[in-house]
Amino acid sequence: MILKNNISFTYKEFDKDEELDNSDRELLIAAKEAALHAYAPYSHFNVGAAVRLESGNVVLGTNVENAAFPSGICAERSALSNASCNFPDDNPVALAIAAITSEGLTADPVSPCGNCRQVIAEEESRSGKGIRIILGGKNKIRVIEKGGDLLPLQ
Ligand code: THU
Repeated sequence: MILKNNISFTYKEFDKDEELDNSDRELLIAAKEAALHAYAPYSHFNVGAAVRLESGNVVLGTNVENAAFPSGICAERSALSNASCNFPDDNPVALAIAAITSEGLTADPVSPCGNCRQVIAEEESRSGKGIRIILGGKNKIRVIEKGGDLLPLQ
């Protein structure tokens, strides 16, 4: 062995939306509203995402499922693709995510899947800027400084 290493990252946890700063709180509200428009007839897990761009513009996304399962898309990728197509010169700086089931907003925050982490990482490398991730649940909210923290050793 030439090296035994350790990777860790620090994230913030809050128990109320009101504790977030204004722009993160507004982005999380937008993600929750977006979740109301998710198309998730198979999982009944309605996810909303909201991307804040450098300009301040906010772009929404939801999961959009399909009878052919792999053809569905997650809310995070839907929002980031939407932003990339419609605002190609405006970099994403923050991404909020929330999920709603028949019981309402999930108690714990939902974390992006591996595919979405990869797409977030691509956007960060494309712009050279970190994307702050805000994961909203009923009982707690997590704020992660940059998407790359969720995908180390790229
Ligand atoms: N899903 C998202 O859209 N984002 C996540 O972070 C987790 C999972 C979607 C994919 C699928 O449509 C449904 O939620 C159930 O996994």
